[in-house]
Amino acid sequence: MELKEAIGRRRSIRFLAPYRPVEREKIQKMLEAARQCSFWGNVRALRATVIEKASASQEVLDAIPEGSALGGFQLRLAPVIIVWWLDWQAVKVQGDRLHELVEAGAAGIDKNDSHRYLDEKLIPFFAAAGDSLKTGGMTEMDCGQGIAHATLVAFEEGLGTCLLGLPAHKKLKTVLGLPEDSKLLCVQTVGYAAEQPEAGGQRPRLPFEDMFSLNTADNAFPRDGKVVEELERAKLIQAQAPLPWRFDELKYLAKALDIAPIFGEESDGIVVAMMQEMQDTPGKS
Ligand SMILES: Cc1cc2nc3c(=O)[nH]c(=O)nc-3n(C[C@H](O)[C@H](O)[C@H](O)COP(=O)(O)O)c2cc1C
Repeated sequence: MELKEAIGRRRSIRFLAPYRPVEREKIQKMLEAARQCSFWGNVRALRATVIEKASASQEVLDAIPEGSALGGFQLRLAPVIIVWWLDWQAVKVQGDRLHELVEAGAAGIDKNDSHRYLDEKLIPFFAAAGDSLKTGGMTEMDCGQGIAHATLVAFEEGLGTCLLGLPAHKKLKTVLGLPEDSKLLCVQTVGYAAEQPEAGGQRPRLPFEDMFSLNTADNAFPRDGKVVEELERAKLIQAQAPLPWRFDELKYLAKALDIAPIFGEESDGIVVAMMQEMQDTPGKS
């Protein structure tokens, strides 16, 4: 599939075929894309631990939570779950990453002057900023960029995927051996779609003019209808959900995959697990 079509088709695929494994090289391509994304100071704090159900140990399989906030069944169906996490230790050595950028000709004109500027000004500034850089912001946004790159590659490779928040994940974090101070960002289910590729149509979005502005925030960016038509022809903008047959498709999928008809109903287990984690570590999420 062309990347452009992958962008147009990019929508969360909740219903995956549990019987069809994912080729490992396709997962590798997703990770290679995440590795190449931009990151402030070239810090690269994004990490991923891939759970491949066919090869994972029973201990790891048992640590996968029963559900997540809404899409409990998704973790059950997915042959592959990518656990995306943030390694705060990477932020500590960002000075090294900046010097590498200078060496690569990607920052500064004169190498010697740039190295000196980094050592005397920029790196001490970042060191002083220390904790505020750990509050999320840019670092988590850049992790999101990497995950977005991987997501587009998944669609390009013909896979279906969906990101899920994981409010109760203490056991999973321990069993996977993630550093204690790391942050589990989200999990990504990956597999082959059990639903039609349209997945019911393009999902609701806020009006373009409410989201984007020109020169000042109160001046909506003019949306040219001709550009919209061009994007529709290129399938970058597609028919809005729900397509006429969507609810019949959902009933069919629920029966075939043994899914509760009320969205989120199967996630009672996760609510219990969240309560348990809160009791175990009061004040921490
Ligand atoms: C970071 C992130 C976390 C998400 N967490 C959940 C979740 O916990 N449960 C869930 O059912 N969907 C979750 N979603 C999926 C969104 O609800 C999904 O994007 C939405 O249904 C719209 O579909 P679309 O991605 O095709 O636009 C998450 C999406 C993102 C990007």
